[in-house]
Amino acid sequence: MNDRVSEPLVLDGKDPRNLRGDPITADRYFSRDFMEKEWNHMWTRVWHIAAREKQLLEPGDFVVHDFMRESVIIVRQHDGSLKGFYNTCAHRGQRLIDGDGGMNSFTCPYHGWRWGIDGVLQDCPDRDDFHLGDPVGKVKLSEVRVGTWGSFVWYTMDPEAPELLDYLAPLPTYYKNFMLERSVRSLWVRVELNTNWKFFADNFNESYHTRTVHPQVPAVIDQDHFTSRYEMYPMGHAGIIQMGRPSLRDRVPEGQPHPFDAQLAVWDIDAAKYPDYAAKAVQGWLDLKAAKRRLWKEKGYLHYENLTDEELTESPFHFIFPNIAIGPSADNYLVLRWEPHPTDPEKCLFDLWSMVYPVDGLDVQVPRTGIHAFKVEEAPFEFRDYDGGRGVPELSDQVVFQDWGLTNGLQRGIRSRGYQDPYLSAQETRVRRFHEVLNDYLQGRPPGR
Ligand SMILES: [Fe+2]
Repeated sequence: MNDRVSEPLVLDGKDPRNLRGDPITADRYFSRDFMEKEWNHMWTRVWHIAAREKQLLEPGDFVVHDFMRESVIIVRQHDGSLKGFYNTCAHRGQRLIDGDGGMNSFTCPYHGWRWGIDGVLQDCPDRDDFHLGDPVGKVKLSEVRVGTWGSFVWYTMDPEAPELLDYLAPLPTYYKNFMLERSVRSLWVRVELNTNWKFFADNFNESYHTRTVHPQVPAVIDQDHFTSRYEMYPMGHAGIIQMGRPSLRDRVPEGQPHPFDAQLAVWDIDAAKYPDYAAKAVQGWLDLKAAKRRLWKEKGYLHYENLTDEELTESPFHFIFPNIAIGPSADNYLVLRWEPHPTDPEKCLFDLWSMVYPVDGLDVQVPRTGIHAFKVEEAPFEFRDYDGGRGVPELSDQVVFQDWGLTNGLQRGIRSRGYQDPYLSAQETRVRRFHEVLNDYLQGRPPGR
């Protein structure tokens, strides 16, 4: 992956000289006025994920994405394309529909206006009573723009937003070898948390907290700042690429079982053959790449077909401005999405999707940073009561569960009169960059326009 750093779109994500130095003011984490500005100038201008393409296979299949005060319907058309509409009847503004499903048309519950899946009015009562003329075939629902990438369906409310693939650049190029459409969403959970949504934009733009908050991770992903690569992109997205091998700094104590051994064993490598810790971490990681390259087909890892040596083992993690994180890696990956609460700036909604690839003969899979196995099948949506973590005990081995545990304390700490502008490490450069891009939106000059 190192050749990518030379891409013209990429800024060094660890170099504070790529920042203006905008202050990160506290009010942005609790002010209703700031929340209103975000709605008017930012949320209405970015691309949102509405669904996975798999949810919209047949003509008439639709999903509803409620976002703050807005609601959008995305529906599969008879010609196979997708259209998106504001979820508001073009007659008198009644919300048309709740939930997801499949329909030949949408009928407004107020006056019975029936809309085709193409957004054009098909029928209504008393068609002869309109002095402007019969509305059938003439009146249309207001549209949003729809695009697809990465097996996801996206939309934007902004007619002037860049095309989706330009907006996401360079991520579609980065992930071209991954068969994201083959992955299965084996966990699909939403929780409400007591913090402003930007806590997570900050959190997923740095791995500096990992050694403190996620001490189990360096055993399988080298998160040391001096071995990782940091990148920032023109539209406000950013990323980190970490090696999928044990950290040489934060070592599992001698005599304790090492989780990397299990990964090696899957590929017929005996961890006991390495003379010491460093040899296992470095040579084991190289051997793992070689074994994956040699054995993927016979072991049924068919989605490996196009992956490079780096992609077979590393742990990329990308922040997609302003509220999505995704880290496609060879065996499984997470999609994390955090959205503002509709009315309370001190709450947010967090979506955790755990994605796995089907592998011949494996009904369950365990992510490298987890303990519990996931069934390799599409999971139903669950809105769970977080209840301080007590409501989701089976997620306690998830890395993000540890992040969720920080939310109350952070929200309270930022409201303190003693809050100061963050004193950031170089590896936290992306945090301030996120706020600078947000500020650009709020000041009416979003990137790419
Ligand atoms: Fe974290």
